[in-house]
Amino acid sequence: MISEEVIQKIKDLNDIVDIVSEKVKLKKAGHNYIGLCPFHNEKTPSFSVSQDKQIYKCFGCGESGNVITFIMKTKNLPFVEAVNFLAEKVNISVELNQGNDKKNYEQNNKLYKINVEAARYFFNNLNQDRKAKQYFLSRKITEATMRSFGLGYAKDDWNNLLHYMKNKGYTELDLINAGLIIQKNNTFYDRFRNRVIFPVFDYRGRVIGFGGRVLDDSKPKYLNSPETAVFKKGINLYGLNFSLKNNIDRFFIIVEGYMDCITLHQYGIKNAVASLGTALTKNQAKLLKRYADKIIISYDADSAGQTATLRGLKILKEVGFEVSIIKIPDGKDPDEFVKKNGREAFIELIKNALPVVDYRLNKAFEEVNLKDNESIIRYIRNVSEIIEELDPVEKDVYIKRISEKTGTSEQAIYDLLSEKVQKSGNQIQTMNKMDGYGQNLYVESAYIKSERALLKIMAQNRNMCEYIMARLKCEDLIIDSHKKIYNNIISVIEDQVANSENILKKIEIMCNEKESYSEWIKVISEDIIFSDGNEKKLIDDFIFNIKKFNLEESKKEIMKKIKILGEKGLFEETLELIKQSEELQNKLNNL
Ligand code: GTP
Ligand code: MN
Repeated sequence: MISEEVIQKIKDLNDIVDIVSEKVKLKKAGHNYIGLCPFHNEKTPSFSVSQDKQIYKCFGCGESGNVITFIMKTKNLPFVEAVNFLAEKVNISVELNQGNDKKNYEQNNKLYKINVEAARYFFNNLNQDRKAKQYFLSRKITEATMRSFGLGYAKDDWNNLLHYMKNKGYTELDLINAGLIIQKNNTFYDRFRNRVIFPVFDYRGRVIGFGGRVLDDSKPKYLNSPETAVFKKGINLYGLNFSLKNNIDRFFIIVEGYMDCITLHQYGIKNAVASLGTALTKNQAKLLKRYADKIIISYDADSAGQTATLRGLKILKEVGFEVSIIKIPDGKDPDEFVKKNGREAFIELIKNALPVVDYRLNKAFEEVNLKDNESIIRYIRNVSEIIEELDPVEKDVYIKRISEKTGTSEQAIYDLLSEKVQKSGNQIQTMNKMDGYGQNLYVESAYIKSERALLKIMAQNRNMCEYIMARLKCEDLIIDSHKKIYNNIISVIEDQVANSENILKKIEIMCNEKESYSEWIKVISEDIIFSDGNEKKLIDDFIFNIKKFNLEESKKEIMKKIKILGEKGLFEETLELIKQSEELQNKLNNL
C-alpha cells in the first residue's frame, strides 16, 4: 500500500498541465487549457485541462481524471506503477519495500555506464566518418568544442551500436532500458542511425541520454532518447553541467537548441543552457535557482510570445527569478547571430535585455495606431492582462508609462483593471490559488455559480429552459460570456428536435471563442443537485442570487455618486439619486 500522504504529495508536485503537455499540445483557453484528446480521434480540440482543479476532461469522449489516471491510461500502467512513475519524476521515493532503493540505485548505475560507453562509441565514429565531422565543421564547430561536448555520430547502419555494446557484455534488455535500441517483432535495431549525436549530461556531468540530428533537411530533424530511469524530461537542462563551472555572475541565458547552447559556449558565453524546445517546468526552475538569481531568455522571435514560453516565464518568476528577454535582430537564433556578429555583439544584446513585462508591453505597442482611438482602447485592454499579474508597485510604474504613451489617464486604466477583476471573479480565484499548492477548492461568488447552474439547466431541460427564460433575461446576466452562451442555448434549442447530447455539442460549437468556450466547459461541469420536485425552488434561488447582485451593484454605484456630490456640497443634486437608491433597496427587500 502506498500511503495517501505520498499520493497527495505526488499529485501536488506533478502539475497536470505539465504532465498532459508531454503528450498533448495544449493551448490556454480562459482559465483552462485545451487540446486534441489523446483518447479518441478528433480534429477540433475538446480535451480540457484545469490547472486549478488538477483534472482533465474530454467533452468529446467523456474521458476524465487526474494526473495519475492520465499516466495509467496513456502509458497503460497499473495504478502502483503510474504512481511510481510520477514519484520518480519529482524525486520522491515511494517506499514499497526496503530493497527497492538499492535495486534502483544499481540499475541506474548500470544505465550511466552504458550511456558513457555509447557516448565514447559515437565520439570515436566522428573521427572515422568524414561526412559527419564535416557537418560540424561546416557549422563552425571547432574540434575542441566537439571534444568538450562529446559530440559524435551514429553510423548509417541498423545495428552497429547494438553489436558494439553486446561485445562489451551488455544485453538487448539493458540497451532497451537505456533507450539506445528499439525492439520490433523480435528484431532489435539502433535508435540513432546516420545522425550526429549530442550526449545529454545531467548537472553533475553524467551522461543521461542523447539527441541526434539529421545531416540534411530530412525529418524529424532531432530525435531524442526516450524517457528512461535516468533520462527524465523536465528536470534537466542541456549544458548546465558546463555552465556551472563558469557561472560567476549568478545568471543563466536560456536558449532553445543544442546548437545555440554549444555555439555560445564556444564563443565564450559560458552561462548558456538549453531548454531543448520544451516548456520550462517548475523542477527545472528550482534546479536553476540553486545557482542563479537572474535569467535571460533568448528564444527565436516567433516562439518568445508563445503560450508555452509565457507559462515558462511565469514559473521562473514564481520561483523568484528576475527574468529578461533578448530580442535578436532579423529573427535569427543565437547560434546564427553569434557566428555572424561575434561575441561582443551578443554581449551587447545581453546588456540590452528587457524585463519580461517591458518586452510584452513593447510587443503589444508595436501594433498600436496612435491616431486610432479604437486601436488604443484595444491595446489598453490587451495590456491590462499583463498588468493584472503585477504587484502594486510595479503596476503603478507601468500604468504611468502606458498612460504617457497613449495619452489615456492613469485613472481610466486603473478603472479598467478593477472592472475586469470584478467581472471575471478573478479576485476570488487568485485569492484561493495563493494558499499553497495542490488541488484548490475554490469558492466562487454565488452569482457566478448561479449563472452557470442556470445555463446548464437551460441546456439540459427544455421545460425548465422556458421557465428560466420567462424569469431571467439575457441582459440580467452579469458575465459577458454567459450572455453569449444564453443566446446560443436559445438558438440551438429553438431549432432542434434531436436528443440532448446533440444539443450540448451544438451549443459547444457555437461557443467558438476563448472566453465563452472556457465558460461553457465550466457551465457543463457545474454540479447541480436536484431533489424531488425542488427544481423550481432551486432555479428561483439562483435567479435571486443574480438579481440581488445586480441590484446591490447598482446601489453601490449610486451611493458612490451620492458621496462624491455630497463632498462637493451639491446636496440638491443628490436628491434624485437618494430616491433611486431607496427604490433599489425596496426592490432588494421584495426579491
Ligand atoms: P539546428 O537546425 O541544428 O540549428 O537546430 P537548433 O538547435 O537551432 O534547433 P531548433 O531551434 O530548430 O529547435 C530547438 C530545439 O528543439 C532543438 O535543439 C531540439 O532539442 C528540439 N527539436 C527541434 N526539432 C525537433 C524535432 O524534430 N524533434 C524533437 N524531438 N525535438 C526537436
Ligand atoms: Mn538553429
